[in-house]
Amino acid sequence: MNTKLVKIQAAGDLSSQVKEAAALIREGRLVAFPTETVYGLGADALNEEAAAKIYAAKGRPSDNPLIAHIWDLSQVNLIAGEVPDAAVKIMERFWPGPLTIILKKKSIVPDGTTGGLDTVAIRMPSHPVAAALIRESGTVIAAPSANISGRPSPTTARHVYEDMKGRIPMILDGGPVGIGIESTIIDMSAGTPVILRPGYISLKELSEVAGTVLSDPAISGRKKPENVVAKAPGMKYRHYAPRGQMILVEGEKDRVISKIRDLVSRKTAEGYRAAVLATDETIEAYHGCRADLIKSMGSRSDPNSIAASLYGVLRDCDAMKADYIFSESFFGEGLGDAIMNRMLKAAAYHLISV
Ligand code: TXA
Ligand code: MG
Repeated sequence: MNTKLVKIQAAGDLSSQVKEAAALIREGRLVAFPTETVYGLGADALNEEAAAKIYAAKGRPSDNPLIAHIWDLSQVNLIAGEVPDAAVKIMERFWPGPLTIILKKKSIVPDGTTGGLDTVAIRMPSHPVAAALIRESGTVIAAPSANISGRPSPTTARHVYEDMKGRIPMILDGGPVGIGIESTIIDMSAGTPVILRPGYISLKELSEVAGTVLSDPAISGRKKPENVVAKAPGMKYRHYAPRGQMILVEGEKDRVISKIRDLVSRKTAEGYRAAVLATDETIEAYHGCRADLIKSMGSRSDPNSIAASLYGVLRDCDAMKADYIFSESFFGEGLGDAIMNRMLKAAAYHLISV
């Protein structure tokens, strides 16, 4: 299959190019498109055969449900059975934006979209290309991140092309995404709301609107969760992962730097290729270290910059065939924790405290 990569430059392009993409969605085919979090791989969420194509293109396990993307609040009642008052408040406050809400589903949503669950994950993205595509398609668009299952999520159209070339007919290129990590997921389908995946919208912000909000125990620890089953099926898979072995180091700044320098010397002496993931504040301290790649993920004073570059940097490590990736860590409130949630998974929970 030929994969058409279409750059959207001006608002004028938006309409003709998005119309072509929307026609593909209506035909039951796949289109990758930008959202404010990461690029999505879209199909008609109400067409079981179309949704099945997403699993095939990504190599995704079929029990891992998809997020249904809407462009207007009127679409909520088409797919959700019960909408609690607190969910309405959350929608009004955070949509369109990087937040996914899980609600009881209506039967119009096929099992092939929700992995057989009786709930549906719903998100209204704020990216203008995503919103226009959903509106033009006249349906709800199921879209996981547009990466091959297990690889880092795509934050540019180029990343999508690397993974999806020959597998899908069209990629809409809206430039690099703004946020860089996937949406926060909150389960509001029963009882007290629970965060199933941390993201840009924090627990604190959500609880200011909805009252008590819990955090799924499977997502919050520094260790690999044991004896707890993640409620978002996708959270149990090795995810977001580069091909090399990633090792995170946490602790006081100078000790972290010297530990990483030491690990690099040992591994490169054994003949392995090593990458170091640093920050603007620390990168100079790795000067003279034998790593094959030393990269800053952004500034510690601006966690947004770290979220925005994380997945691209992991792909750079793959491109230079790093056997080992040694990285600084970013534990903290809100976005820092969402970043660490992704990094711990990418590192398969290899964390050294110094
Ligand atoms: O930012 C995002 O959310 C991006 C963009 C493209 O919108 N999408 C995304 O989709 O990250 P995906 O498929 O990579 O992750 C969806 C997550 C998975 O962990 C899945 O298990 C969970 O959402 N999920 C979907 N439906 C669910 C449901 N009904 N109950 C519990 N978890 C659900
Ligand atoms: Mg994903």
